[in-house]
Amino acid sequence: MQTSAETYNDTVVRQFAIMTIVWGIVGMSVGVLIAAQLAWPVLNFDVPWLTFGRLRPLHTNAVIFAFGGSALFASSYYVVQRTCHVRLFGGLLAGFTFWGWQAVIVLAAVTLPLGITSSKEYAELEWPIDILITVVWVSYAVVFFGTLAKRRIAHIYVANWFFGAFIIAVAMLHLVNSAAVPVSFWKSYSAYAGVQDAMVQWWYGHNAVGFFLTAGFLGMLYYFIPKQAGRPVYSYRLSVVHFWALVFTYIWAGPHHLHYTALPDWAQSLGMVFSLILLAPSWGGMINGIMTLSGAWEKLRTDPVLRLLIVSVSFYGMSTFEGPMMAIKTVNALSHYTDWTIGHVHSGALGWVALISLGTMYYMIPRLFGRELYSLKLVEVHFWTSTIGIVLYITAMWVSGIMQGLMWRAANTDGTLTYSFVESVQAMHPFYVIRFGGGLLFLVGVLVMAYNLWKTVVGAQPAEIGIPAPAAAH
Ligand code: HEM
Ligand code: HEM
Repeated sequence: MQTSAETYNDTVVRQFAIMTIVWGIVGMSVGVLIAAQLAWPVLNFDVPWLTFGRLRPLHTNAVIFAFGGSALFASSYYVVQRTCHVRLFGGLLAGFTFWGWQAVIVLAAVTLPLGITSSKEYAELEWPIDILITVVWVSYAVVFFGTLAKRRIAHIYVANWFFGAFIIAVAMLHLVNSAAVPVSFWKSYSAYAGVQDAMVQWWYGHNAVGFFLTAGFLGMLYYFIPKQAGRPVYSYRLSVVHFWALVFTYIWAGPHHLHYTALPDWAQSLGMVFSLILLAPSWGGMINGIMTLSGAWEKLRTDPVLRLLIVSVSFYGMSTFEGPMMAIKTVNALSHYTDWTIGHVHSGALGWVALISLGTMYYMIPRLFGRELYSLKLVEVHFWTSTIGIVLYITAMWVSGIMQGLMWRAANTDGTLTYSFVESVQAMHPFYVIRFGGGLLFLVGVLVMAYNLWKTVVGAQPAEIGIPAPAAAH
């Protein structure tokens, strides 16, 4: 009988899985530091490399592209091999995607604190790094679609559709938005100007949310939730409708980031309407994920990994309800520029993206190393610290954001402003301290997880202690 090691290329999956945890700790630690800086500005230490302005993009790049990206590479490579019953296509090319992606991350970690940036949010890296990203991404596409092409199973399982759409859309977004005119090795200017630049940037920015932070993670949802629950997907038909409705709708919603700007009014309204429509496919997906547990609800009591996964889908539902509401122009008039946006971001980022990735790592890592998970009790601890951490983070930002918006727009009967800007900053301070506490709790949960997985990997082989190993090939 062939072992999974011979059948599948799991070396690259293991490498990406380990780096998911490492970059998660790094990116979230920087998040905790910048949260502390907002509460206690003295923590900028008057050192240029450590200022909030430079560390903030380091945080976003580290959590989205290093942590989230590694989780996506690991899970897509794991899933595509097991659902197609073949080894990854392209031999050494898969290994190249690992080392290439790590090189991109290290270059980001060096250039961003040095202040080298294109200044486009979530696309800050300068042009030489953008070229490296393109080479790695094309290689990723070759490996992933090459594996699909040589599959032994006629049907393409729905998780692969989501991973495939994520890979194609990100390639398109990156190429169009990063078009720039270099003036030196580390400086370039966008190929677009004025409002066109803003439009292209937020077409990119919103679809980075839709495809990088959503579609790929939905791929995880459709594979790992049924696996962990031991149940088939609630409705396969709904998953296909979910896929097509989601990819069609997301691509139009970007202008909701540019309400009340120089962008033509019709384009803003178009963005708003498509954002509202987006509620339907998003909730269709959420219901499909959660209902996969029907007939097995009792597992939630005993399996904290499944609970992490299901809570992540609930946060997906919550942030995709909040997003369309914030896209309504009159609501956005209050929420834009405030901490409400930051609360929304982290209910999606911590609640959805981070939890589903971490739940997936709990599923994959013991199987990849042929070990039994070291401690379910520690997963329980992780579940509660992270859930309480997220709730503290997002509720603090809701209160702070709505208060900010209301203070800024409050006017006296003679038309003068009721509050000065500094008064609004003072009022936000307690909420910044609470957010710091919530973020720190979340990070502690990830450190507990890292310890648990470390003990899992270095622990005794299950066979040595008389427990059957988890089946590696699924
Ligand atoms: C320990 C966990 C985390 C903490 C303490 C944290 C903290 C922060 C802070 C303080 C900011 C700046 C807010 C501002 O400018 O007012 C921020 C921004 C951001 N963070 Fe996090 N973060 C954490 C985890 C994450 C994760 C896991 C993700 C994504 C997967 C993420 C994505 C983002 C994004 C996209 C922004 C920019 C938001 C915007 O521009 O509207 N964060 N984070
Ligand atoms: C139906 C789905 C969603 C819609 C319609 C939506 C809508 C919105 C709106 C209206 C804003 C505020 C724009 C502004 O005032 O500047 C926003 C910001 C944001 N959302 Fe969502 N959202 C959705 C889901 C999500 C999810 C699931 C995530 C994360 C995983 C997410 C991440 C973000 C980020 C990172 C920003 C901040 C962008 C920035 O200004 O830097 N969104 N979203």
